Amino acid sequence: MTLSYDDAKQALQQNDQEHILGFWDPLSEQEREALLEQITTLDFDSIKRMKTMLAARNEDGLPFDPETKPAPVVEPTDADLAEYCPLGEEQLRAGKVGVILVAGGQGSRLGFDGPKGAYGVAPITNATLFEIHSRKILNMERRYNTTIPFYIMTSDVNDAATRDFFTKHDYFGLDSANVKFFTQGMWPVLDPDGRIIMDQPGHVFMSPDGHGGTVTALQRTGMLADMATRGVETLFFFQVDNPLVEIADPLFIGLHAANKADISIKVCAKRDASEGLGIVATCGGKCMIIEYSDMPDDQQEALAEDGRLKFLYGSVAIHIFDRAFLEQEAAAALPLHIAHKKVPFCAKDGSTVRPEEPNAYKFEKFIFDVIPDAATALNVSFDRAEEFSPLKNAEGNDSPETVARDLTLKHARWLEAAGIAIPRDEDGLPTIKVEIDPCYANSAEEVAKRLPDGFSINGDVLLKDEE
Ligand code: UD1
Repeated sequence: MTLSYDDAKQALQQNDQEHILGFWDPLSEQEREALLEQITTLDFDSIKRMKTMLAARNEDGLPFDPETKPAPVVEPTDADLAEYCPLGEEQLRAGKVGVILVAGGQGSRLGFDGPKGAYGVAPITNATLFEIHSRKILNMERRYNTTIPFYIMTSDVNDAATRDFFTKHDYFGLDSANVKFFTQGMWPVLDPDGRIIMDQPGHVFMSPDGHGGTVTALQRTGMLADMATRGVETLFFFQVDNPLVEIADPLFIGLHAANKADISIKVCAKRDASEGLGIVATCGGKCMIIEYSDMPDDQQEALAEDGRLKFLYGSVAIHIFDRAFLEQEAAAALPLHIAHKKVPFCAKDGSTVRPEEPNAYKFEKFIFDVIPDAATALNVSFDRAEEFSPLKNAEGNDSPETVARDLTLKHARWLEAAGIAIPRDEDGLPTIKVEIDPCYANSAEEVAKRLPDGFSINGDVLLKDEE
């Protein structure tokens, strides 16, 4: 229930935030109501933790424990594939697998206004990230004659736009009863003195609480209960920005099940020392991911005896969770991460100012901070060319151009494996575009099975499922 003015004032006073009501008098009735609603949602326990962290902050980042070592990593062999894939497939057929997609972020580096999943990336049809992910799930449902519930985390920033996008596209063929949207929490940001920043006289500036908010949001919105009702025990987790992801990969699920892991983590060799991947490590007997921005440069660049990077393996944010582990973690207070950002603020005269320099401290939770709580965490390596090409930036690395290139390369390899010659230039890049709808085929084997007899190419190749 929304707090009354008096209760809101009291809560703010107790937390040294009474400036939030500083513009109360000139506000309209509607604005007052909206502000009281916002104050009601403020999570003062977390805000207390933010203030403590802010007071103790060290601009050099977190101290790095010298005992930190690279984590053990399983490199699956062909024998593993034969042994563990059927185990994963069994779980899929039994309806025990669900999928969690985190898509609550703002995509600010890409400079795209809408939800990042609505960005077109496919080389020929410009199919969006949401379409590609959804069609992969549809393929799996058909292949294993099963239901794979799809839990999509949004935030207040993009929830309505994301739901509208799925409705407009008829859920890309999925049954809407199995696509469940849920919103993550929103947090205020603080000025250097720990005061909550307002961006308008009647409005507190809020931003998503990080994808670590997934766990509490799953519980708060009833999604964990939904999973239990459906008999879902294993959750495949991924980020919206990677169209190469092998969703609900049976080998990965099989390895996770055979090792009775609480969480499994897909990792790949970093492109170079500076690539923005969280690295997998152990310290004090616990597994963890250390975010790239928290790794000192000398550690990022350190070499092992074989001349490769010492901290070679990075997480690409593809995980499997046991539902029971997520339930356990819903009660855990994950650590906070702090970032110095530019945030619009309300000046004394009530106008909104957009600062040129960072003025605010923003706090986030990261999903991988649950890893140290896991009794068993399993790191599994994979070939990044097959499974990882994220869309992060407008240009350069990890941009629309590299994503379209990597989609074409992956699909070209599938066609070549089926005996179709693809013209390539001297750098090995296909000179034509290749795109395969994930419902037509989602592996080299499926392509080989579905290609019509006598198939030949004459320019760009688009293979689409017409069902
Ligand atoms: C992220 C990972 C990094 C990993 C890399 C792989 C973090 C902090 N870091 O980096 O370890 O190696 O991806 O690509 O995650 N999101 C939300 N809500 C939020 C914030 C983000 O849902 O409040 C979602 C985004 O929509 C996106 C994903 O989380 O799907 C990643 O967010 P992003 O900020 O792009 O993380 P990176 O810094 O690229």
